[in-house]
Amino acid sequence: MQWTVDRKDAWETDADVVLVGLLEADKDAPFPKSLAADDARSGGALAAAWARGEVRGKRGEITVLTLTGGTRRLLVFGLGKAERYDAEACRVAGGFVTKALRGKGGKVGAVRAASIAVRRLAVPDALAAFADGAELASYEFKRYKTTPRPAPLDNLVGALGKEHAAAAASVRKALDRQRLITESVLWSRDIGNLAADTATPEFLAEQALSLGKEFGLKVTVFDEKQLEEMGCGGILAVGGGSTHHPPRMIAIEYAGKGARPPKTVALVGKGITFDSGGISIKPALSMAEMKFDKSGAVAVLATMRAIAQLKVAPRVVGVMCCAENVPSGTAYRPGDVVRTFGGKTIEVLNTDAEGRVVLSDGLSWVNATHKPNEIIDLATLTGACVVALGFDNAGLLATDDRLAGELLKASSASGEPLWRMPITALHHEMVKSEVADVRNSTESPPAGALTAAAFLSTFVGDTPWAHLDIAGTAYVSGAGARFAPPYNPGGFNGFGIRLLCRYLSGMG
Ligand code: BES
Ligand code: MN
Ligand code: ZN
Repeated sequence: MQWTVDRKDAWETDADVVLVGLLEADKDAPFPKSLAADDARSGGALAAAWARGEVRGKRGEITVLTLTGGTRRLLVFGLGKAERYDAEACRVAGGFVTKALRGKGGKVGAVRAASIAVRRLAVPDALAAFADGAELASYEFKRYKTTPRPAPLDNLVGALGKEHAAAAASVRKALDRQRLITESVLWSRDIGNLAADTATPEFLAEQALSLGKEFGLKVTVFDEKQLEEMGCGGILAVGGGSTHHPPRMIAIEYAGKGARPPKTVALVGKGITFDSGGISIKPALSMAEMKFDKSGAVAVLATMRAIAQLKVAPRVVGVMCCAENVPSGTAYRPGDVVRTFGGKTIEVLNTDAEGRVVLSDGLSWVNATHKPNEIIDLATLTGACVVALGFDNAGLLATDDRLAGELLKASSASGEPLWRMPITALHHEMVKSEVADVRNSTESPPAGALTAAAFLSTFVGDTPWAHLDIAGTAYVSGAGARFAPPYNPGGFNGFGIRLLCRYLSGMG
């Protein structure tokens, strides 16, 4: 879908669908004056729909009216409650609109800027959020479909009208910037949704290498021989069970803006291309979902792609810790002790707690070799995080309040909510091992997301660090589908990319 900007009012553009947003009104509220011109165009049909109680501006509400004697349509969409209206509500509205338009034969949709730039939302932010939601909701994973579905629209026009025509330049700038981010999220979905037979560690390494070529990033792929020499026993142990798809650690470097970038940020992603649990095998029930256990690494990859184009100020190093966790005669076992990069040892009690084992190498390697000012990791790390927070908030566990605060700000603006959770002395105590430095699992279940974070924190030294447990938010499947926002249409979402882009471009 193209995004364009027009200084005219929506009706003066060549749109075949005019899109008008409406804040929620009371049951007995009179017909809103702001819709008078649209009602006139509809020959009174809109006011009649209002009188029937069909139109009230509720979240997700869509009313489509075909104008008499023409092919043009008017689509009025709900923005939800005024006091809750923000960029995220606007993004959700954009999502509902394109979802409703799929298969309806519309080509050009013009959204009236003044109808969504309401309350505290400025025109550039409103149009960027609306386009983001509209585009993301239009996504379809086409790879395995014989007949893909038709696209909802070819062109989305931001119609500024007289009121906002003066903002044209700043709207264009905001849309161009948003486009780079949204487009990288779409790109990430085509990788994140791939099944584990295709998206192997080697495949992810090839994706990183071609990304590096395209956008001028330095990419280094460490294969199993190099990992052995480096002492990355964690990634090697987890990947050891896969006789056909050996593990890879992938580093992607963005040099930063100018000669002296303000800081170095490391992003580390869990890239388990399939998590069967290994010898501590998972039940069959939802094992298929575990093709999404690479979500953290894919989010890191796509973030690198976006920031290289956004040309953010800091130097950024992305690390993807990729392995396939499957049982076999060469698989690592419960009871094994593995030595990780830098020498720390891990007692393996459960081969299904593999994410923290691969991340141990990635975190300590990037910390020692790149001396980052801060480290952020993303991982579909624990089922316990899903139990605690469900499908909308990702867990945020951090050793640094400033970093945590900045990420929280970026996340509420991007519509990817984080909820901070604690790491206490007790959690540190719980992951101590009798025979090694740490153990990868505890015998008792409580606080699984927090003990996992306590484990990870031992591999980052004193470097300010934040961990995002995206187990519940990285993808939509099964029970989650009913509750997902319209712009997450199923499968891999790309959670984290938008918030990291915001954070790294200083737009918290
Ligand atoms: N990849 C899973 C976590 C997960 C669960 C992600 C559900 C998405 C949805 C992770 O590797 C795992 O298996 N964790 C175990 C840890 C336990 C064995 C200590 C878990 O959460 O049960
Ligand atoms: Mn696991
Ligand atoms: Zn896993």
